[in-house]
Parts: sequence; C-alpha cells; structure tokens
Amino acid sequence: MRRVLMAAAVLGLGVSAVMAQQEVAVQQQNLMKSQGRSMYGVLNKMVKGDTPFDKAAADAALKALADDVAKIPTVFTTNPKEDVKDATFGASQKIWQNKADFDAKVPPVTKAIADAKFTDAASLKVAYDAIQAKCTGCHDDFRVKLK
Ligand code: HEC
Repeated sequence: MRRVLMAAAVLGLGVSAVMAQQEVAVQQQNLMKSQGRSMYGVLNKMVKGDTPFDKAAADAALKALADDVAKIPTVFTTNPKEDVKDATFGASQKIWQNKADFDAKVPPVTKAIADAKFTDAASLKVAYDAIQAKCTGCHDDFRVKLK
C-alpha cells in the first residue's frame, strides 16, 4: 500500500512539473504577446495610417512596451524545456546556453524606446523602425519559428 501511495506521489509530482513547465512557457510567450500588442496593435497601426496619429496613445504604448521589455531577463529565467502548445513561435534552447548574450539584447531595445522622439506619424515611423530593428536583433538569434 505504501508503495502504491509513493508511486502515486511521484506521478503527481511528475504531472505538476510538466504543468509548471507549460506555465513558464506560456508566461514567457504572454510577455512577448503583450509587447506585440503595443508595437503592432497600437504603434504600427498609427505608422501605417490605419488609425489616426495620437501622441498620448503612442506615449502610453511606448511606456507599456518599456515596462514589458524590462521584464524579459527575469521572465526568461527558467528554461521551460518545451514550447507553448500549438504556438507559432518558440524560444531557442540557445537562450539557456548563453543567457548573458540573450540578456544583452534587451538594453538596445530599451534605449531605442527611450530615444523615440516624434510629433506625427512620419516621425513615429522612424522611432518604430529603430525599435523594431532591436526586437529583430534578439528574434534572429533566439526565436524559433515553429510553423
Ligand atoms: C532578448 C530577446 C528578445 C527581445 C529583445 C524581444 N523578443 Fe520577442 N521573442 C523572444 C523570444 C525568445 C520569443 C519566442 C518565445 C515565445 O513566443 O514563446 C519571442 C516571441 C515574440 C513574439 C511572438 C509571440 C507569439 O505569439 O508566439 C512577438 C509578437 C514578440 N516576440 C514581440 C517582440 C517585440 C515587439 C519586441 C521589441 C519591442 C521583442 N519581441 C523583443 C525574444 C525577444
């Protein structure tokens, strides 16, 4: 009986460890999705003229973006060792082999956001492109396209 209970306990642990890994992967992806909402959901729409230029809304999106970007090194502390189920993008295992390189991709994004000076859609585009280039700087090395 004790053996059965112990086996059950071990199994239970195994299950919760798997769930925790998926939660870590989801948490990491949610941070990126939140950045995507600021960049593509708000700023890029103004850049393209899909929504009217709105300085206050752009400033708010940049503030939210800066807050999210600052969280990248800590949110990506644990290797979930698995991808989010059915996801389009995943985190490369290279992150965990060279976390310092990964973290070093963050300050350039922060700087590009801080440097953003704009008064209209055209000048916002310049800032947007500069920020996007730094996001890509990390994605090229550490993001994997899954499908
Ligand atoms: C330090 C590295 C790094 C930086 C900087 C970075 N990303 Fe990512 N990003 C990743 C990794 C790793 C993934 C894949 C993880 C995942 O989606 O589960 C990712 C995935 C994404 C995704 C896809 C999410 C999905 O739906 O699966 C979006 C959108 C995204 N990033 C937006 C951004 C934006 C916008 C910026 C710049 C403001 C940015 N990222 C900066 C590492 C980074």
